[in-house]
Amino acid sequence: MSRAPVPGLRRLRFDASPCNFPRAAVPMLAPVDRRQLSLLRRDGVTLDTTRTQVFLRGRYGLHEAFRRAGLGPGKRLFVPSYHCPTMADPGLRLGADIVLYPLKDDLTVDVQALQRLLQAEPQSGDCLLLTHFFGIAQPVAIIKELQALCAAHQLRLIEDCSHCLALGLSSLPEGIGSHGDFAVSSPYKFIPVPEMGLLWSKHGGTLDASDTPPATGRQGWRQAATLMRGWAAQPGQAPAWKAPNTKSATSAAPAREWEEDCVGISSHYLPSEEGRYRLPISNFILERTPLKLVTERRRENFQRWLSLCKGLPQLQPLHATLPDACVPYMFPVLLDAPSTHFAVLKDAGLPIWRWDDELASPCDTASRYRLGLLHLPCHQGLSESQWQWMERTLHACLNGAGLSHAGAVA
Ligand SMILES: Cc1ncc(COP(=O)(O)O)c(C=O)c1O
Repeated sequence: MSRAPVPGLRRLRFDASPCNFPRAAVPMLAPVDRRQLSLLRRDGVTLDTTRTQVFLRGRYGLHEAFRRAGLGPGKRLFVPSYHCPTMADPGLRLGADIVLYPLKDDLTVDVQALQRLLQAEPQSGDCLLLTHFFGIAQPVAIIKELQALCAAHQLRLIEDCSHCLALGLSSLPEGIGSHGDFAVSSPYKFIPVPEMGLLWSKHGGTLDASDTPPATGRQGWRQAATLMRGWAAQPGQAPAWKAPNTKSATSAAPAREWEEDCVGISSHYLPSEEGRYRLPISNFILERTPLKLVTERRRENFQRWLSLCKGLPQLQPLHATLPDACVPYMFPVLLDAPSTHFAVLKDAGLPIWRWDDELASPCDTASRYRLGLLHLPCHQGLSESQWQWMERTLHACLNGAGLSHAGAVA
């Protein structure tokens, strides 16, 4: 069924399927650690479900947050110009107008530019989505300015903590998730639960009052199957070393890149999955995952990427240091020449995500980062052999030095 284009919105698309890149040889997200899942052990977090609502993914939590904030036709959702489609999808689903606001190079909000957008067409009852990218909190001074803007323009502030280890009001690092009218997180990005998105409100009140009960059913089977697949995959194992064939990547069919009308939600948003869910398997894992260990390992891994990049001038870390107390989601790094190197890295099986499908905006940061910013894993499940494999492969792809690289395994 064809849908009408959303006025003024274009999608920038990138399709790598003609290139037949192999699956990433190292998992992008933390795999389940079997040793942790004892029935007796409970050193993780128990969700306070009276003040936190549970969804299959953060995107459906955002949909509920926007709905509760009154978003709908005739209202605007202000979305960061650098984004993944699932950040705008819930607003499109509710029939709101999407307005993309500019970001600075470090992915903090360009408050002056946002202010100009708000003043150009003043209107009340809109929503502002504020994202803490990759786990790095937006600076407090910016949050204060945004809160003042929201008060002046009667905007509802929705805090997107999808890249933060925030598990509801009782588990908020650095106060992240306490600034907006509503906040949403995405625990499956940090903890090996098969599915989970969370929503809570700043005021901490119960969100349940007028709701239909959470759904159960096939999710249990789906989650069990995901877990089994994870266990079977031997997630800590690195592939056997093989020098990457950099010529094969450059001679393969090119990816397809184009621009098209936005005709509504993307294929990543499934209306059938909206609403609250009971997720017993995810809760079981959450209750057995020690956050201290997750935090320490991720911080160490982020630092390891920083030192690794010193020997790879083609990769510029987006952040040169890791703020205290930050639990990083991924390691964001700028690739100097994405048109030359992206295919080579993907073809070698390196674990890389990128937001190359994006709604078009005039923001310079968004246009550069769409193809240039790579998201590399720094999760707690990375093993030493996987690190060595990634290090050696990166050197081989970018410096042509993989075969004799110091510290590499033969
Ligand atoms: C910044 C950000 N916000 C929201 C979402 C949506 O989260 P989820 O994947 O849990 O739906 C994502 C998805 O990756 C994201 O990166």
